[in-house]
Amino acid sequence: MTAIERSDWTPPQDLGEDLAPSVHLVTFGCQMNKYDSELVLERFLARGYRVTERPEDASVVLFNTCSVREHAEERVYSHLGALKDLKRERPELVIGVVGCMAQREGARVLKRAPLVDLVVGTREFPQLPELVDEVRSTGRARVAVAEETSVDVAERPATPAGRQRHAFVAVMRGCDLNCTYCVVPKTRGRVASRPAEDLLREVRSLVEQGVREVTLLGQTVNSYGYDLPGRALKLAGLIDRLAEIDALERIHLVTSHPAYVTPDLIRVFAEQPKLSRYFPLPVQSGSDAVLKRMKRGYTSGGYRERVAALRAAAPDLELCSDWIVGFPGETDADFEQSEQLLREIGFLHSYVFKYSPRPDTAAFAVADDVPEEVKKERNQRLLHLQEESATARYARFAGGVVSARVSEQSERFPTRLMAQTRSGHQVFLEEPDAGQRAALLGAEVRVRVARFTPFGLYGERVVETAGSPA
Ligand code: 5AD
Ligand code: SF4
Repeated sequence: MTAIERSDWTPPQDLGEDLAPSVHLVTFGCQMNKYDSELVLERFLARGYRVTERPEDASVVLFNTCSVREHAEERVYSHLGALKDLKRERPELVIGVVGCMAQREGARVLKRAPLVDLVVGTREFPQLPELVDEVRSTGRARVAVAEETSVDVAERPATPAGRQRHAFVAVMRGCDLNCTYCVVPKTRGRVASRPAEDLLREVRSLVEQGVREVTLLGQTVNSYGYDLPGRALKLAGLIDRLAEIDALERIHLVTSHPAYVTPDLIRVFAEQPKLSRYFPLPVQSGSDAVLKRMKRGYTSGGYRERVAALRAAAPDLELCSDWIVGFPGETDADFEQSEQLLREIGFLHSYVFKYSPRPDTAAFAVADDVPEEVKKERNQRLLHLQEESATARYARFAGGVVSARVSEQSERFPTRLMAQTRSGHQVFLEEPDAGQRAALLGAEVRVRVARFTPFGLYGERVVETAGSPA
C-alpha cells in the first residue's frame, strides 16, 4: 500500500455537513430591509441552501445594509472587519454586501473592504443566488448596482411547511418626495407601486397557506398607486379589496407620509374593521421652520389637522412617529416645539434620531451646526417625553378589560404570553398552564388590566364561564 505523502493530501473541506450550501444573513435598518431579507432567504432556500445561525458555519455570508444614518454603515464595516480571519482560513467563503449601502457605495465597498466578493444594490437582490454562483465560477468580485432596473419581486413560492400567521407584503418601493435629509430616494429610487391585481393574488395565496394578518409595506405606503396609470386603486381602495378576503383578519400599514393622508384614507380607517388602528405617521419635527427646511410639505398645524381628522374617524387610533433632532439650524425654540407637539398628540411610540448628514442629500451642503452634545440631550429629552406619553396612553385602560390577539410566548418570562390590541397596544398576560399557553397562540383573548408601564398593559385573562355574556 502506498502511503500518501502529507504534502499530496488536502483535507476534504466541503464534505459532510458542509456539502449543502448554507447562508448566513445579517440585516440592518428598516422593516423593508427585514422583508427583503426574508425574500432573499426564500430564494436561497428554494435553491437547496440551509440557513445558519453563525457565519462560521456558512458558505455565503450576506449583509443587508442601511444607509439612513452614518452609524448604520459603520457597523457594517466593523462586521466585515470581524470576518477577516474566517475569509483567510476559507477563501471560498462568499461575502456579500446588499441593499441600501451597496447601492450608494457601489465599488467603493470593495476598496474599503477587499474581502467582499459581491456588492448588490436594492434592485438586483432577487438575483443573489445566481450572482453567488457567478462569483464562484469566475473567482472574481462582482458589483451589481444598476440604477434603472426596477425590482421585480415575483410572487413568493408556496412553502410546503405553510406560513406563519403574519406576513409582510411590499405594495410599493422607492420614494419621490426628496426630504432634504434623506438618502432613501437615492438608494431606493423612484416610486414603483405593484399592480393591485398582483397584490390581491399574492395575499390570497398567502392566506391559503395559513396567513391571517398582513403588513402592507412601503417607504410611503399611503402614496401607493399614484404612480400607476389612470384610475388604478390607491391605498384605501386596495385595503377595501383585501378586506374582502374572508380568512384575512387584520391589515397593518408601515410606514406613511402626512401628505398622503387623503379623505379616502380617513374613510377607510372609519369603515374597515380589519384595518389596524395603529398608524405610523412620522412628523419629524414640531417646528414649521425646520419642517420647511426639511421640505416635508406640511406645517405642524397641517399635521395636527390630519391627526384630528383621523381620530374623529377612528377614536381608537394610536399613532407612532419618527423624529429627527439636531437638524441644521434647529434652535432651542424649534426643539421645544417638537416637545410640545409630542406632548399634545400623545403618541404611543416614537423613534428619535440624531441628525446624521448623508452624502447626496440636499441638507449635506448645509453645515451640521448643532453640536453632538446638544443632539444627545435633545434625543434624551424627547425619549423621556415619549415614555410619559406612552404611560398616559396605557393608563386609560387601568382596571378595564381589553381584547387582544395572542402573538407569542415571552422568552424571558415562561408563564407570560404577549398579545396586541387592534390599536397596537402591547398586552402581557399570565398563563401558568403550559397547555393553555400553546392553545392560546393566535387566539383573541380578553384581559383584565391590573397594571401598566410605558411598555404595555399587564393582567390576567378573563375566562368566560357558561352563561356569562359573550
Ligand atoms: N439623519 C437622522 N435620521 C434620519 N432619518 C432619515 N434620514 C435621516 C438622517 N439623515 C430618520 C427619519 C426617518 C427614519 C427612517 O430615519 O426619522 O423617518
Ligand atoms: Fe435604511 Fe432607509 Fe434603506 Fe430602510 S430604506 S434600509 S431605513 S436607508
